[in-house]
Amino acid sequence: PALAPFSTQMPILPTLQPVQSGLDVDIYKIPIKAGTAEILPGVQTPVLTYGGRFLGPTIRAKTNRRVKIMYQNQLDMPANVHLHGGHVPSVSDGHPMDVIQPGQARVYDYPNTQQGATLWYHDHSHHMEAEHVYRGLQGFYLIEDDSERRLNLPSGAYDVPILLRDVEFDANGELIFFDDPANRTTILANGKAQPYFPVAARKYRFRLLNGSNEHVFQLNLGGETMTKIASDGGLLPAPVPVTEMQLASAERAEIVVDFARYPIGTQLVLSNGSDPILRFDVVRRAVDTSRVPDQLRPLPALPTPTVTRDVALSFDLTADPIGLVNGRPFDPARVDFQIKRGSTEIWNVVNADTFAIDHTFHMHLVQFRVLERNGAAPPQHDAGLKDTVRLPPGGSLKLQATFRDYLGKYVYHCHYLEHSSIGMMAQMEIIP
Ligand code: C2O
Ligand code: CU
Repeated sequence: PALAPFSTQMPILPTLQPVQSGLDVDIYKIPIKAGTAEILPGVQTPVLTYGGRFLGPTIRAKTNRRVKIMYQNQLDMPANVHLHGGHVPSVSDGHPMDVIQPGQARVYDYPNTQQGATLWYHDHSHHMEAEHVYRGLQGFYLIEDDSERRLNLPSGAYDVPILLRDVEFDANGELIFFDDPANRTTILANGKAQPYFPVAARKYRFRLLNGSNEHVFQLNLGGETMTKIASDGGLLPAPVPVTEMQLASAERAEIVVDFARYPIGTQLVLSNGSDPILRFDVVRRAVDTSRVPDQLRPLPALPTPTVTRDVALSFDLTADPIGLVNGRPFDPARVDFQIKRGSTEIWNVVNADTFAIDHTFHMHLVQFRVLERNGAAPPQHDAGLKDTVRLPPGGSLKLQATFRDYLGKYVYHCHYLEHSSIGMMAQMEIIP
């Protein structure tokens, strides 16, 4: 259906309230269920939901304050939930084989021992994750910590999570899943196509997530400056002004935009390349006591690595395509890497396909550092804590990660969910 650009306002994804709060824990309840959503004006689109809405509610957590979420699976198929970027015990990780059967409920227990960061949660039930996430099983999970709060970055109504993702509609406004992801050309911001968002002439913090299954965004604000302050795992050491930013599937970038530079009535368009996706309308003045300090948070020291691993992502195209990691499709019965708790490792990850196809690389459990991309140190704005990185054709990555506490099995995979769902995933086990 044709749609006039910038005719709907971008909604804020509502923050979920706990059903119960204790001294050091917040407890939430979220049903996983089918529903409909008005993504296009006047059209009801069938979707899958966390809690009845497209997209999932935002969970706001605090460092060292526990969150427990009881998910009730009201679908007629298995589902589960992975906290992407979360440092959690393996029983609460949402391992692809650890699913919630229809009619069952399951409590995930998140200790939130990591620093403030923009995380997200999404379905990870094996073979189904791509379709489930595409149809709506995704939402924000934000962790805040005290030292971050003391920085006095824009907060409250001026701290706005924005989930950007692609989608393909049929003529009735239903989502098309079984098609080439390249045809998902409609971009949604918080679940609406080409919305506008009224802002005050002051600083805003935008937490951007690429929630697409398989899409690399090239974001720009028409040449205007966006100050990048955080990547997947939290704050950068110092703010970095950028005019363009690449954001691959599952990556997050936090930016501060100061609209005080513009007269009331200014419209600034966030575009993906040359495609407009979201318009900011400067509509009013407002007091602004927030700031973006020159120093944000030093990165943790890099311990000396003792182990080096090689990881190659590729496809086997001989029959039905199968995704491979080091030549083998995912097998939950196999442990690909055994990792000693407490150790620090270097992972050399390559895109081993001989034809031009993109991949991304994501590890559960840890926030890692990118030491090199294609043999060179990454730019400053990409040198912070990461859990997902793009791996373009011919690309290579040198990553460093420390496995400090939890034991058990976790997966690592391509985060193009159409790839991981057909096998481009492997398993590590952290052992004492
Ligand atoms: Cu965002 Cu294994 O996933
Ligand atoms: Cu891939």
